[in-house]
Amino acid sequence: MKLPSLKIGDLEAKIPIIQGGMGVGISMSGLAGAVAKTGAIGVISGLHLSLSDPKWGKDFRKANIEALRQEIRKARNIAPHGIIGVNILVAITEYATMVKTAIEEGIDIIISGAGLPLNLPEFVKGTRTKAIPIVSSARAAATICKSWVQKHDYVPDAIIVEGPKAGGHLGFKREELEHMDDYKLEDIVPQVIETVKPYEEQYGKPIPVIAAGGIFDGKDIAKFIKLGASGVQMATRFVATYECDASMAFKQAYVNAKKEDITIIKSPVGMPGRAIKNAFLEEVEKHAKTPDFCRYNCLKTCDPKKSPYCIAQALLNAQKGNLDEGFAFCGENVYRIDKIVHVDELINELVREAEENLQ
Ligand SMILES: Cc1cc2nc3c(=O)[nH]c(=O)nc-3n(C[C@H](O)[C@H](O)[C@H](O)COP(=O)(O)O)c2cc1C
Repeated sequence: MKLPSLKIGDLEAKIPIIQGGMGVGISMSGLAGAVAKTGAIGVISGLHLSLSDPKWGKDFRKANIEALRQEIRKARNIAPHGIIGVNILVAITEYATMVKTAIEEGIDIIISGAGLPLNLPEFVKGTRTKAIPIVSSARAAATICKSWVQKHDYVPDAIIVEGPKAGGHLGFKREELEHMDDYKLEDIVPQVIETVKPYEEQYGKPIPVIAAGGIFDGKDIAKFIKLGASGVQMATRFVATYECDASMAFKQAYVNAKKEDITIIKSPVGMPGRAIKNAFLEEVEKHAKTPDFCRYNCLKTCDPKKSPYCIAQALLNAQKGNLDEGFAFCGENVYRIDKIVHVDELINELVREAEENLQ
């Protein structure tokens, strides 16, 4: 059976896969453009784009905004007819400015997690840009729908449900992550589908629910489509592609990772995160590497005086390949990756496997 397309308002992705946004600098125009070109949805991370490029100088605020514009334009050049989104974390200091900049550039979708994006409709309403929150529970989905309707008369254009096996920051407490079987994505997705139903009826429009976290192959994609998801968001698999914007050393860390290397860290963002264990993280565990000063002022939730290290710098170092001074976030299934491939090969394989499993 053919995989259904993913419809989000007037947008239609032929392939119902969203490549998850990955900061710092892991999913930029190179990866997002290559994914969008295949008919899936490519997502640029709106996190510290400028930090990867010295030409933007020391005014990080201004530089980030300008870099976001450039990345959106570059992705559009790679995939002029593709669907491109930007992932903007609620926790970043410049949230509103980044959202407004992406909308000015005519971005198709804004995806926001790491907090509840309660004011996102204020910016997208009346534009062609779609607003997609990321949630980890039906409760969070209900809170967002209720608040958006009450304050903005707007419902999400789609909702991404991220389960506990995802990469990066996680919407679960550390104790919950120790009992992942109690928080299965397979259970949360149908609960969110039920939660949004009354809002779909009230507004006379579908609210597609998209499953994310630990989805590795086409069999997994078929499983979630059968459960009622309209699509999936995947990130870890896209890191091990030639087009991914991280350094080769970062990608190689994925290929080399074993199951026992995966760990849960406490991040200065204020949420747990999943990462590949290394000497840097072990050192942080032993003696916090409190940053001398805060260069970026990037997170609303970070207090540099109490922070065990500067996460922006550590992630940027890793993106550049300096894993001695940083670390790589990853999804739970990273250890199953054994080679680096091209984005179109990966997408073709996922679609073929999914269609075989939808029979
Ligand atoms: C290296 C890496 C960085 C990530 N950074 C972000 C981010 O900046 N913002 C965000 O919302 N999600 C982030 N994520 C989560 C992904 O977008 C995605 O939802 C999740 O990893 C899906 O699970 P999977 O990796 O098992 O496919 C990141 C994931 C990885 C692996």
